[in-house]
Amino acid sequence: MNIEGMSAVVTGGASGLGLATARRLVNQGAKVVLVDLPGSAGAEAADSLGPNARFAAADVTTEDSLPAALDVAESLGPLRVLVHCAGRGGPVRILDKEGKPGSLAAYENIIRINLIGTFNTMRLVAERMARNEPVDGERGVCVLTASVAAYEGQIGQIPYASSKAGVVGMTIVAARDLASRLIRVNTIAPGIFDTPMLARVSEDARRTLGASVPHPARLGQPDEYAQLALHLVSNPMINGETIRLDGALRMAPR
Ligand SMILES: NC(=O)c1ccc[n+]([C@@H]2O[C@H](COP(=O)([O-])OP(=O)(O)OC[C@H]3O[C@@H](n4cnc5c(N)ncnc54)[C@H](O)[C@@H]3O)[C@@H](O)[C@H]2O)c1
Repeated sequence: MNIEGMSAVVTGGASGLGLATARRLVNQGAKVVLVDLPGSAGAEAADSLGPNARFAAADVTTEDSLPAALDVAESLGPLRVLVHCAGRGGPVRILDKEGKPGSLAAYENIIRINLIGTFNTMRLVAERMARNEPVDGERGVCVLTASVAAYEGQIGQIPYASSKAGVVGMTIVAARDLASRLIRVNTIAPGIFDTPMLARVSEDARRTLGASVPHPARLGQPDEYAQLALHLVSNPMINGETIRLDGALRMAPR
């Protein structure tokens, strides 16, 4: 799909992988709406991208805040691209150090943001995309974000790994479900990327994490995620697929 003049929504667009993808989309001629939480740096991020980027505050887990953000996107051009990066981690153990059951509320919270937020965003965006006139046989493309934790989650990552495995699982179903609407769905499963999500990790720990990647032995750069996201948007034959983007990393148990 040619994105020139199209409108794109990037959730989690205030930061990290989402912001890098928004930058590439704008540089290639798209109009981009950064959707992120009200307290995020979304307004500053949109300003930094110039007049073809806007910020719309919304929580991807709710039914009521996203439609207004999608209205902003449709006011800029036909909404044909979703890159869904909103997400977060959070540690939970099945049993805590004292042998007590881990927090159900903390587990549910991560599932709500990462998994339910993905479904909620996709269903509301797909409704808009389905109304587009087809161009070159397509009405829209969705790129979702999982994680290598979907395949080999580490100790303490049970809600995160479950939520991301859910995103991998929904990818082929979503592609089949939306095929009749001429909308494609693909997912990127990143390894370890140098984004604010890693900000609380010390410099030493970041070096160790980078060295654990077979090749290239470093953290991923957000623009490398953006490059793949744009390829998934542009290549009409890639559909229903999850692509690991991890330098051959396979996470150890801890
Ligand atoms: N950085 C990594 O190493 C890595 C690895 C694998 C997967 N991922 C995934 O990539 C995605 C982007 O991560 P990142 O590293 O750019 O993180 P980040 O923290 O830099 O960006 C995530 C953004 O999502 C937003 N967000 C969180 N909850 C939201 C909600 N309910 N509604 C709207 N926005 C919300 C945050 O405000 C933030 O701006 C996440 O889904 C993350 O799980 C990241």
